[in-house]
Amino acid sequence: MSTTFIAGVLAARKGLGQPIGSLTQMGTVRLGKRTENRSPMIKDFVPLAGMDDLVFGAWDIFPESAYEAAVKAGVLDKNLLDQIRDEMDAIRPMKAVFDQRFVKNLDGPHKKEAPTLWDLAEALKEDIRTFQKETGVSRVVMVWCASTETFRKEAPVHQSLKAFEEGLKTSDPAIAPSMIYAYAAISMGIPYANGAPNLSADIPALEELAKERGVPLAGKDFKTGQTLMKTILAPGFKARLLGLSGWFSTNILGNRDGEVLDDPEAFKTKEESKLGVLDSILQPHLYPSLYGELYHKVRINYYPPRGDNKEGWDNIDVFGWLGYPMQIKIDFLCRDSILAAPIVLDLALFLDMAGRAKMRGIQEWLSFYFKSPIHARGLYAEHDLFIQLMKLKNTLRHLRGEDPITHLGLDSYD
Ligand SMILES: NC(=O)c1ccc[n+]([C@@H]2O[C@H](COP(=O)([O-])OP(=O)(O)OC[C@H]3O[C@@H](n4cnc5c(N)ncnc54)[C@H](O)[C@@H]3O)[C@@H](O)[C@H]2O)c1
Repeated sequence: MSTTFIAGVLAARKGLGQPIGSLTQMGTVRLGKRTENRSPMIKDFVPLAGMDDLVFGAWDIFPESAYEAAVKAGVLDKNLLDQIRDEMDAIRPMKAVFDQRFVKNLDGPHKKEAPTLWDLAEALKEDIRTFQKETGVSRVVMVWCASTETFRKEAPVHQSLKAFEEGLKTSDPAIAPSMIYAYAAISMGIPYANGAPNLSADIPALEELAKERGVPLAGKDFKTGQTLMKTILAPGFKARLLGLSGWFSTNILGNRDGEVLDDPEAFKTKEESKLGVLDSILQPHLYPSLYGELYHKVRINYYPPRGDNKEGWDNIDVFGWLGYPMQIKIDFLCRDSILAAPIVLDLALFLDMAGRAKMRGIQEWLSFYFKSPIHARGLYAEHDLFIQLMKLKNTLRHLRGEDPITHLGLDSYD
């Protein structure tokens, strides 16, 4: 996913492809009444950094350059990669903060060693400072695109910044590597987004730090593939009050992500994230006769021959008038990283803008991009893609002093 994103930006800059799927690059936002015909491009409406301004830095437990990693991942044509080879080869990962207890099916040689987790966080901060100095960039954003960590519940060490910093110093085993990266970023005033489903910056300690430092946060688990389809379809069924008795989803995929998810503990993290969406869209407590008995099952199977070209099947058992049953089958031959790359781009640009706009803490308006949107405690997450898009665009309108759009439209008929 990371190299597909980086290669895509470099290729688009050279005119070798278009950033399809990116709201910041291709989306528009309607302003005012429909009669006003004002629909600027989002990138012309809000002050976003341009794709030409981006410089990339990364960490990985393997030392290969972005070019070598992209060739190995096999998502993009080698022919395309060869046209941007020099720039991709120059991007070499820094040594990672890694702990195999959190990613069972993976290990690599390119890792940091330090006496405590606190020292590891300091080493990451030093990496960021060196990156800033060497590249001359004025601002930085961090997006976690690393492997899914195993399922964890919040522990006492996550409950306050004081406990967390103490835990870094005593190397508390409940602190995951992704939390150390997030801590390093947030404490340097750098916005952080989590593209994976594991617990990371969504703990009270790091939310507190983000508020204190005025840093925007977003997460978690990029909404691509099967879950994207779910959050497109389920709002439609609910809008028409069609009932659902079952939704069975299965996938085969053969990339490293699939290999990591072959471990039941990593899969549990993903499963929680994937299962959550239907309940919150369908609201079975409000519609018990339509959704109260829904059987929802999600499987992911590691199947190496497919590489990144996943296949996701959905069997949806729906019922209509008088309870008559019907079935819908979906077979999505999807390319996960192709769907995820524009999300990484949009988040980097929107979070950078949010930082400059002094928006701090959880950015719920970026829920549009996530399977498990982080949100204020006490609220439920909004999963409906169309409500999420409206929220995102209304936030942009609000930032520029334009009226939000309610779609009421009655004044057109006065
Ligand atoms: N590809 C997608 O479309 C998609 C969609 C939603 C979510 N995600 C999530 O995004 C993450 C990345 O997916 P991917 O397809 O790029 O996987 P990938 O396996 O191709 O890449 C992950 C990389 O992270 C590295 N890594 C693991 N732990 C690390 C650490 N502690 N520090 C630095 N590097 C580390 C691995 O060595 C690997 O190179 C996964 O958690 C996945 O579940 C991916």
